[in-house]
Amino acid sequence: MDRRTFVKTAIAGSALSAAPALPALAGPGTLRIGLITPPSHQWSKSAEALAARLAEASGGRIALSVHAAGQLGSEAQMLQQLQAGALDMAFLTLGELSNRNAQFGALTAPYLVRDMGQARRLLAGATAQELLAKAGRLGLVGLGFGMAGMRQVLLREPAPAGEALQGRKIRTVPLAQELDFWRRVGAAPTPLPLPALYDALANGQIDGMQIDFEGTWNSRYFEHASEMLASDHMIFPMIAVGSGRRWATLSHEDRALIDGAVAETLEELRATYEEIDAIYRAKIEEAGFPVRSVDRSYFSGAVDAWYSEWRVKTPVLERLEAEAAKL
Ligand code: BEZ
Repeated sequence: MDRRTFVKTAIAGSALSAAPALPALAGPGTLRIGLITPPSHQWSKSAEALAARLAEASGGRIALSVHAAGQLGSEAQMLQQLQAGALDMAFLTLGELSNRNAQFGALTAPYLVRDMGQARRLLAGATAQELLAKAGRLGLVGLGFGMAGMRQVLLREPAPAGEALQGRKIRTVPLAQELDFWRRVGAAPTPLPLPALYDALANGQIDGMQIDFEGTWNSRYFEHASEMLASDHMIFPMIAVGSGRRWATLSHEDRALIDGAVAETLEELRATYEEIDAIYRAKIEEAGFPVRSVDRSYFSGAVDAWYSEWRVKTPVLERLEAEAAKL
């Protein structure tokens, strides 16, 4: 990519042409990607794989520098940087996007899919692609969906039945649909970002958390817990986005090259997640930590009540349900 082409903001005639000049790039042909996960997490490994793929596909012309572990700030801050053109790309959870357009949060509907295989296909499917296009209205370019492990529940004290969760502070991401689910369960949903989780669990700020097996093992959260409910109750999608302002400065060829490299990387990531849950669940169990499988009935009426409300609020949900039923 020609550095001069890349830094220029001459988008004649577009609404973006009045925007202030973009800051200098980190280096010739260097793009930056931000994400909140630690280096050990699969999203961070996939971002590194994307960097290698881009370098190879561009013959070394495009370098991608990976900024993991929230080095560039929280997701809210990264979203602002993307919108301003100060950050090129990010792998984001749906938290910030759902709070601007609730349709995105429909992907976190409880028990929308049966397993990771179905989640993988749904996130590559037609309705997810429609949602991806909505990122454009937020000043982003939706590049594709990835995912993390299915959501499970890690608890400081055991909860033999769902009623035992009444009043407990359960960590969620700040996303209306998730908060609503936990309220309906009778718990006190407590939104916290990933980097805050270890301390919050260790010092009793929360009684439990909605998390996956991978994070539970890699960040050793289970050391401060006594039971894990293997509930598989939600997909946890990741959205790969580019900055709309940056994209407008790229040549068609470079956009196509990046699109292709991201698509391959996300396909690989989604496939990897079909295996990851089982691998990390086994590690946790082998360490002697109790993991108990529960199904939809554990949350009694909360799931049905959730659907009654969110099918109305986010019409895309029924299309996702119909698509999932055919997978
Ligand atoms: C979380 O906030 O639980 C999370 C964020 C990114 C990847 C996986 C989990």
